[in-house]
Amino acid sequence: MKKRVAVIGAGPSGLAQLRAFQSAAQAGADIPEVVCFEKQDNWGGLWNYSWRTGLDEYGEPVHGSMYRYLWSNGPKEGLEFADYTFEEHFGKQIGSYPPRAVLFDYIEGRVIKANVRPWIRFRTPVRMVTFDESTQKFTVTVHDLKKDHTYVEVFDDVVVASGHFSTPNVPEFPGFSTFNGRILHAHDFRDAREFAGKDILIVGTSYSAEDIGSQCWKYGCKSVTVSHRTAPMGFNWPDNWKEVPLLQQVEGNTATFKDGSTAHVDAIILCTGYQHHFPFLPDGLRLRTKNRLATADLYRGVAWVKNPKLFYLGMQDQWYTFNMFDAQAWYVRDLIMGRLSVPATETERSAEVTARIAAEDAITDPYGPIKFQGAYVQELIDLTDYPSFDIPGSDAAFIAWKKHKVKGIMTFRDNAYASVMTGTMAPLHHTPWKDALEDSMKSYLKS
Ligand SMILES: Cc1cc2nc3c(=O)[nH]c(=O)nc-3n(C[C@H](O)[C@H](O)[C@H](O)COP(=O)(O)OP(=O)(O)OC[C@H]3O[C@@H](n4cnc5c(N)ncnc54)[C@H](O)[C@@H]3O)c2cc1C
Ligand SMILES: NC(=O)c1ccc[n+]([C@@H]2O[C@H](COP(=O)([O-])OP(=O)(O)OC[C@H]3O[C@@H](n4cnc5c(N)ncnc54)[C@H](OP(=O)(O)O)[C@@H]3O)[C@@H](O)[C@H]2O)c1
Repeated sequence: MKKRVAVIGAGPSGLAQLRAFQSAAQAGADIPEVVCFEKQDNWGGLWNYSWRTGLDEYGEPVHGSMYRYLWSNGPKEGLEFADYTFEEHFGKQIGSYPPRAVLFDYIEGRVIKANVRPWIRFRTPVRMVTFDESTQKFTVTVHDLKKDHTYVEVFDDVVVASGHFSTPNVPEFPGFSTFNGRILHAHDFRDAREFAGKDILIVGTSYSAEDIGSQCWKYGCKSVTVSHRTAPMGFNWPDNWKEVPLLQQVEGNTATFKDGSTAHVDAIILCTGYQHHFPFLPDGLRLRTKNRLATADLYRGVAWVKNPKLFYLGMQDQWYTFNMFDAQAWYVRDLIMGRLSVPATETERSAEVTARIAAEDAITDPYGPIKFQGAYVQELIDLTDYPSFDIPGSDAAFIAWKKHKVKGIMTFRDNAYASVMTGTMAPLHHTPWKDALEDSMKSYLKS
């Protein structure tokens, strides 16, 4: 009997897992039977844009957190697939900060070429995974939404690739229930034009806060006020943008902050992050971790220390994305296929996790987190046949990006970097980001 592997989710991480197995098959290996369950009707994960918010047409929570006009927030030179370059996909080198539709097309191109779509059961959320100690197998309960039919199947290994930027973390502040305006989380933000002419308040200081605020500014909001819990972002913001301490309360349309200052606000956007949320996993299999580079309880960032037949992909906070998911997926593939192994005891596996967490905690260099994740990607790539690439070159692109953001937060996307896969320099985009209101693939790819 062939081994059976369940992959939960067909976003960039799950697709990396499918491509990893397919590449082994292509090289002549006898691979396990791989079944991928995906709750949406298409692949691409967060990159598969949906206008929907709240619940979808089947009553399932909408997975998507991306919005219209979203452009990559980091240089594409940090995420390029080593086995499928941008030049191979587009037939030419393209700009460094592609809009969402362009990256979706690139993600899709690789898996169309690999012909793994038949491995995926779409519109099929996983409802429960249990492990039987006596048989050493997992029982996976899934729901075929189209047929409204629930069924179970048995697997030897399970790979959780369901993402962790979908279930919002939603704090409440005094006065919210009587606020005279719209309150939403970044997860439900879809179109900046809705806020044209409005005074918006953003809570949070990370990527969603920076990018959603910038979108609203670009598409004509009246003012942006960003409220921080820990520290302001400190960029050189436009004149109608200010940073204030933490929100204390709202009354009518007036927001009051920790320093006693106030602002008139029409809408509040909570950019307060996401939860690692796995409602389909029982206590003994469920990852509980902060959004950090060295996650809790995952040996080499992927294998569940308590039961290394269960794997998680992409659960780290992310500088590196697509090629880190690849590095993880190739490594997980080789563990599942018995080409590599993890230490025999939980104590040894946990010790590796403790050491990795301590190493992250010891970082003091402001660019240290980038290099830390780059070294992790390198560590995994060195273990498998995933094509090696210039990771210090990717680190350098991320570091240059951070410096460009300090130089100009509304102009950093007007820069270009060289591919670490092919060495080709990206062209400068034809229109500055702040003026490029139309961001379709056709318009972006125009020379
Ligand atoms: C607003 C936003 C913008 C981002 N922008 C960038 C960017 O510019 N560049 C970048 O590199 N990264 C960006 N990211 C990071 C993003 O996390 C990764 O690019 C990538 O999408 C992660 O892939 P994933 O497959 O791990 O998770 P996801 O993309 O979240 O995919 C998970 C998949 O699992 C499916 N799923 C979930 N639960 C179940 C279930 N129970 N059963 C079956 N299927 C299930 C979902 O439907 C989804 O298809 C962004 C994230 C957000 C939130
Ligand atoms: N264009 C793009 O590509 C784009 C756009 C948006 C997001 N993203 C991606 O999306 C992912 C998630 O980013 P994110 O910004 O949503 O989440 P995040 O990085 O986890 O940041 C969460 C933010 O919320 C704040 N916060 C949490 N709870 C709070 C509370 N109770 N009160 C006040 N503040 C609170 C945190 O503040 P503290 O610092 O005080 O903890 C932090 O600033 C990232 O990978 C990012 O790259 C990409």
